[in-house]
Amino acid sequence: MHLPEACDFVVFGGTGDLALRKLLPALYQCVVEDRLPADTRVIAVSRSELDDDAYRSQVRLALAEHVSPEHHDLGAVERLLSQLHHVAVDVEDDHDWHTLFGMLKDRPGAENTVRIFYLAVAPSLFGPICRHLGQGGLADAPARVVLEKPIGHDLASARAVNDVVGSVFDESQIFRIDHYLGKESVQNLLVTRFANTFLEPLWNSHSIDHVQITVSETLGAGARAGYYDRSGAMRDMVQNHLLQLLCLVAMEPPIEIGGGREDVRDEKLKVLQALRPMRPEDVDRDTVRGRYAAGWVAGQPVPGYVEELGEAGRDSLTETYVALRAEVQNWRWAGVPFYLRTGKRLDRRASEIVVVFKDAPYDPFRQREGATEPNRLTIQVQPEEGMRIHLNAKEPGPGGYRLKPVSLDLSYANAFDKRSPDAYERLLMDVIRGNMTLFMRRDEVEAAWAWCEPILRHWESSAMPPKTYPAGSAGPTASFTLIERDGRSWQES
Ligand code: BG6
Repeated sequence: MHLPEACDFVVFGGTGDLALRKLLPALYQCVVEDRLPADTRVIAVSRSELDDDAYRSQVRLALAEHVSPEHHDLGAVERLLSQLHHVAVDVEDDHDWHTLFGMLKDRPGAENTVRIFYLAVAPSLFGPICRHLGQGGLADAPARVVLEKPIGHDLASARAVNDVVGSVFDESQIFRIDHYLGKESVQNLLVTRFANTFLEPLWNSHSIDHVQITVSETLGAGARAGYYDRSGAMRDMVQNHLLQLLCLVAMEPPIEIGGGREDVRDEKLKVLQALRPMRPEDVDRDTVRGRYAAGWVAGQPVPGYVEELGEAGRDSLTETYVALRAEVQNWRWAGVPFYLRTGKRLDRRASEIVVVFKDAPYDPFRQREGATEPNRLTIQVQPEEGMRIHLNAKEPGPGGYRLKPVSLDLSYANAFDKRSPDAYERLLMDVIRGNMTLFMRRDEVEAAWAWCEPILRHWESSAMPPKTYPAGSAGPTASFTLIERDGRSWQES
C-alpha cells in the first residue's frame, strides 16, 4: 500500500498524557524508520497559549522520558520537532478556529493532503470538534477522524457519540482505536490461526474445553482515578480490549486480512452478536466484581482504591476487577466457556489468552507414573510476547513410562531480531494509509455495549459493593470459585 503524498496530522489534546506518552513517541519511531509521508506536519491543538518552540521543548522532554535510551536518535528527534506545530484553540469557542483552519487550507497542495484529526480529548468534546471541522469544510475526504475510548458509557451514550461524529464524517472516515488490536502478538493470533493448518481442525468445541483471557495489571487507578471511578474495569477493559481479544479467538476465517475489505470486522461483529445475553440470574452466577484494598505491590505498601479516591471514595461502588464466564452461541463454540478476567493492582502484569484442549479420550499408559495435563496453547500478549504449547512428554529413563507436562516455547524476542513496535505505531500508520481493519466499526462498539449493559445495569441495581482483594494478590476469592465450580482453574503461564 502506498503512503499518501502529504499528510497533516492534527492532535486535539496535544499537551495531554496520551499525546506525550504514546502518540508523539509513536510518530517519532515512524520518523526514525522513514515511514511518515514527506511533508507531514504534526499539528498539536490545545487550549494552552504555547508557540511552536515552547511546545517543541515539551515534546523533547516527553521523548526523553518515553523513548528508551537505546532507541533515542537525536537527529530523528530534531526532524520530528521541525515538523511539529502548536495551535491554541478552545474547541468550545466558535471564534477560536481561524488560525488552525488557515494553516490547514493554505498549505500548497491542500486539496490532496490527507488530514487526520486525532481526538485525544474527553468524548464530550467530540461533538463540538467535529461540528467545527464540518463547518470549516475540513471533513471532506481525504480527511479522517480518530476516536479514543471511551466511546460512550453505555449503549445510548455510545450511539449518541457515534451519531454526532457520524453527522459530519462518513463511517469510512472514522477510525475507533482499540490499542490492543495494534499489539504485535494480538495480530500474530490472526496469523497463527489463519496462516497455519494445524490448529483450524481443532479450533472448535470438539477439541477445545474452554478459553481463558486474562489482562492483569499491577498499576492502580492512580492519577486517572477521577476518570476511572466513572468507568470501572467493565467499561474500561472488558467492553473493549477483552471482548476484542475474544472476537479474534472465536471469529470465523475472514476472506481477506489487511486489504481494504470489511471481512475481519464483519466476522468480529458476528461473534459479539453470538454472545449469550446475560439475564440478572446469569449476572449473579457468572460474574464477579472486585476492588483492591490496601496491600503490597513489588515490596511496597500501596493504598486501597477507596483511600486513593479520598473523599470521593466514600460512596464509590466502582470495580477495579472483573471476572466472568461468557458463551459464544454458534455452531463452532456451543458449550465452550470463555472465562475473562482483568484487574488493577494484581500480583503480576500479564496479558494472555489460554486455549485449553480437552483431555485425551483414552489413556493407554495404564502402568505409567507422573501426572498429565490437558494440552494448552498460551498466547502471551505482554509483558513478553510469545506463544507456548503445553504437551505431555515421556521423561527420559529406562523402564516404564513416566509422563511429564512440558512446553514448546516461541519467544518473539528470540525468534525475531527486531524491535517490537508499540501498538500505536502500527495503528497510526494504518490511519495514514487508510487501512481500517484494526479499528472498531460502529456496529461492533454498539454490539459490545449491548452485551455489557445488562451486566452493568444489574450490578447498579443490586448496589452491592464489589468484593475486596488485597492489592498485590491474584484477585478476589470469588473469581477462583467462578471457574473452580466448573471443575477448571485459572492457568498462569
Ligand atoms: C487502557 C485502560 O485502555 O488500557 C487502562 O484505560 C489500562 O486503564 C490500559 O491500564 C492497559 O493497556 P496496556 O497496553 O498497558 O495493557
